[in-house]
Amino acid sequence: MIEEIRIENLDPAAFIEDQVSHIAGKVGDGLAINALSGGVDSSAVTMLGHRAIGDNCRTYFVENGLMRKGEPEQVVSLFAELGVHVEVIDAKEEFFEALRGVVDPEEKREAITQTFYKEVFGRLVKESGAKHLLQGTILTDVDETVAGIKRQHNVFEQLGIDPQETFGYQIIEPLLQIRKDGVRKVAEALDLPESTWNRMPFPGPALSARVIGEVTPERIDLVRHATSITEEELEDIDAFLKLAIIHEDRVTGMRDGKREFGFQIEVRCWDSIDARIGTPTNIPFETLTGLSDRLVNEVPGVVSVTYNIASKPPSTMEPV
Ligand code: XMP
Repeated sequence: MIEEIRIENLDPAAFIEDQVSHIAGKVGDGLAINALSGGVDSSAVTMLGHRAIGDNCRTYFVENGLMRKGEPEQVVSLFAELGVHVEVIDAKEEFFEALRGVVDPEEKREAITQTFYKEVFGRLVKESGAKHLLQGTILTDVDETVAGIKRQHNVFEQLGIDPQETFGYQIIEPLLQIRKDGVRKVAEALDLPESTWNRMPFPGPALSARVIGEVTPERIDLVRHATSITEEELEDIDAFLKLAIIHEDRVTGMRDGKREFGFQIEVRCWDSIDARIGTPTNIPFETLTGLSDRLVNEVPGVVSVTYNIASKPPSTMEPV
């Protein structure tokens, strides 16, 4: 049972001190690796790791082919400014290969997990000689996985999986006792810029969590394009999470007087504090129709756009 540190009891400076000495104690004078996606959780862990053991923490950005537009470059340059070297690992083909033909959401998540932990991190650990992986699992990830709602990509021990036995390394999880609102406070206290500590969450399985049906490079390109337009058009909307989803079913549309059997995009925008519950954001109708105009005109083959109006629960935020 993990003891939660509730937001009202969280003292970020004391938390950082505790976690830094915990990491330093566990890793000793060995090496640890960590994967940075640029999200608030992995960014906070990167800073904790570097404060604890300096360059003995090796930080990697795994280019899985499923990230948003420009993400690898932005993350590498931001952390260079913060004095942290980030090495980019090209694993695109491995991820697409693992996802080929997989349509069931939980099987997709399992394919992502195995590719990250067994293949990519397994190799990085072997090559570097590290014995530990630092990662940013938070309490909400554990809750949903243990409840059997959604297998979050980064939860093992609570499912009875021993990472040492299964993957050959130990996992250190400094953020396990807090939730997203707590991580934001810790990230701010770690001197990360507001663009990081206030950043919208992005799931570990990345854009593959937003493709219903098979994940292919073409469908990822489509959802990546739709995501970038959605984030741009909703930039001034204050919300916890904004996302675009590509549906598996196609529908009849028409363009230039001709039939077009096209794609459907679903837009979701969530109000939430810590991701446990959420309600759809009340967005002005003109903003939604402006977004829809751009999606149907700029993303090839899109003929239908819908806005989700269901709450979590029973919905979840990401469709996969
Ligand atoms: P759901 O879809 O579970 O999303 O309602 C709640 C929050 O968690 C994010 N999410 C994930 N984060 N690994 C993560 O690190 C995952 O596998 C994962 N799945 C969902 C989601 O983006 C939202 O912020």
